[in-house]
Formats: sequence, C-alpha cells, structure tokens
Amino acid sequence: MSKQAIVTGGAGFIGSHLADALLADGWTVVVIDNLSTGNVENIPDRADLLQIDISQDDFLNYMPTGKFDAIFHLAGQSSGEISFADPQYDAKANILGTVLLLEWCRRTGTDRMIYAGTMGVYGNVTSPVSEDAPLAPLSFYGTGRLANENYLRIYRDLGVQSTVLRLFNVFGPRQNMANLRQGMVSIFMSYVAAGEPILVKGSKERYRDIVYVDDVVRAFILSESDDKAVNETFNVGTGRKTHVYELLDCLIEVFGYKPGEFPVEYVGNTPGDQFGIFADVSKIKRILNWIPEVDLKDGLTRMREWLLETNRVG
Ligand SMILES: NC(=O)c1ccc[n+]([C@@H]2O[C@H](COP(=O)([O-])OP(=O)(O)OC[C@H]3O[C@@H](n4cnc5c(N)ncnc54)[C@H](O)[C@@H]3O)[C@@H](O)[C@H]2O)c1
Repeated sequence: MSKQAIVTGGAGFIGSHLADALLADGWTVVVIDNLSTGNVENIPDRADLLQIDISQDDFLNYMPTGKFDAIFHLAGQSSGEISFADPQYDAKANILGTVLLLEWCRRTGTDRMIYAGTMGVYGNVTSPVSEDAPLAPLSFYGTGRLANENYLRIYRDLGVQSTVLRLFNVFGPRQNMANLRQGMVSIFMSYVAAGEPILVKGSKERYRDIVYVDDVVRAFILSESDDKAVNETFNVGTGRKTHVYELLDCLIEVFGYKPGEFPVEYVGNTPGDQFGIFADVSKIKRILNWIPEVDLKDGLTRMREWLLETNRVG
C-alpha cells in the first residue's frame, strides 16, 4: 500500500511542487489548504483537497481520523510585511494553526512532521548563519515561527517527531505573482513581466540567499526519508550571498534587457526586513547529503518560461 501524506499549503507555491514530487514517488497525498493565497489550479489532479482553515476553532472536527505516515506543514501566512499590518491574523494562522495540527498528529498517532520554517527566526546576524546562531526575530512573522519551533520541540516528547527546515528566499514557477508583499524574486519579476519600473523597497546593497524551489522540495523529501533528519533543524539555502543589485541585473538580463536598460526605483523600506542574510548550509550537506543544484540564472530562466507558458508576461 502506498504511503499517505498530508501537505498543508499544498495549493501554494512550494507545497504544490512538493505534492507533485510525493505523488511521483508513489505517495497518496491529501492537501489541506484554505486557498487564501494558494490556487486550486496548483494542486495536482491525483491529490485530494480538504479546503479547511487550519486555525479555525473547530478544525479538528473536519480532519481525517486515521494516522498518516507523514505531514508536511507549509500552510500559513508568509509575509513579514503582513505580520506588521495584521499581527493577530499572522499569529492565528501561523501559531494556532500549527498547534492544532500538532494536536491532530498526537491524537491520530501521526508521528512525523516536516515543517517549513524560515530564516526569519534569525535577527540581525552575521552571515553565513548556522542553525545554532542566537534567535532574535525582527518581525512578528519570525516571532510566530520561532514559537512554532518550540511547540514542535515539546511535542516531540508527546510522540510527534519533527524536522524544521529554515527556508531562505525560495523562488520558482507558481510563485504568486499578484502578491507584491511576499517573495523578493516574484515581486521584482512581476514588474519586469508587466514592463513597469521595478519598485524596490530598501537598499540595493541588501543581500539574500536565493534558492530554487526544486532544491527545496528535495530537502523536504530527504528529511522524511532519512532517519538522520529526525528532530533536527536545517538551513535550506544555497550558501551564496546575492545582493539585491545582482538579482536585479540577472533578472533584467534573463528578460532580454541590457544592464541598466530597465528602470528601477527605490521606495522606502519594509518593516522588520533583515538587511543581509545568507545560510551556512554545511549541516544539511553533511547530514542529508543535500546540495542545491539550480543556480540563480537557470532558475530565473525557468521561471520566465513558466510565465510565458501561462501568458503572464505583458
Ligand atoms: N517562499 C519563501 O521564500 C519562504 C521562505 C521561508 C519560509 N516559507 C514558508 O514556507 C511555506 C510555504 O510558502 P509559499 O511560498 O509556498 O507560500 P504560499 O502562500 O504560496 O503557500 C501557503 C499556502 O498556505 C495556504 N494557507 C494560508 N493560511 C492558511 C490557513 N490558515 N489554513 C489553510 N491553508 C492556509 C495558502 O492558501 C497557500 O496555499 C509558508 O509557511 C512560508 O512561510 C516560505
């Protein structure tokens, strides 16, 4: 019999790619998603959808009663900016939603959760940042996600084994191009695709660790299949520093413009934004033998092809 997985957030960007990969590996997949930022068209045909809000009070009444082999938890509010605009919504979706899922795991005997954590749990740190760096998040989003890491840690004593993957800046096809408050690559690309000046919030000297979605999906799959990942926390990035200006140059080139040919405007800042961060990925390399395979230019090219295929280039 095939193994059974729940993918929360499976209508979203990363979750839908993960659902595809699990199905290709022979799993049965149930997607749990309230479609708030996700898109039903992202969900693979062979996956079942349970359209529920993971943070609603009676959530447990709508969940399957049997044990699953693993739950991949990616549903949630994922914008630092939105966490400042609506801290209550952020805490409800991210903290309460995770607690209810963990409680469901405990009740059904589902003893394996792979959790989409974030680099947002680190504050102003020296990069490359390793997993044992001090954690002092700058946003409510990062604060909630840190709380979740602690819930996961305590639920381990109640029988729910888990792995935390602290994702850095993930990019690729199916990023929500209409959401200009989440996803540095998709935000910048939305402007270029529409032929409008790129509005950059913050300095072009900022830097990030930009990792392609297929590489991230592989980290999720390995975390489930390799017992060495049990109860561990891993950074998932490339280990490379990419300045905002380098990302802009590469993006503009991939869309066929010469350097400096495409207009870029700098407007204000995003509250709680980390100035510069990139990952030390030695732990995930050493323990899970995971290395990123898709570089920035290749990934941006694939993303542009997806935009062309789905008629999203203006
Ligand atoms: N994309 C990144 O760069 C990045 C970086 C770090 C962490 N993460 C985390 O990884 C996860 C997936 O990110 P993504 O980029 O695919 O985001 P996404 O917004 O595309 O996907 C999130 C999905 O969760 C669903 N969802 C949101 N709130 C929900 C709720 N209360 N109940 C049920 N479903 C709900 C949305 O409809 C969406 O389909 C998120 O938890 C995010 O915080 C992402």
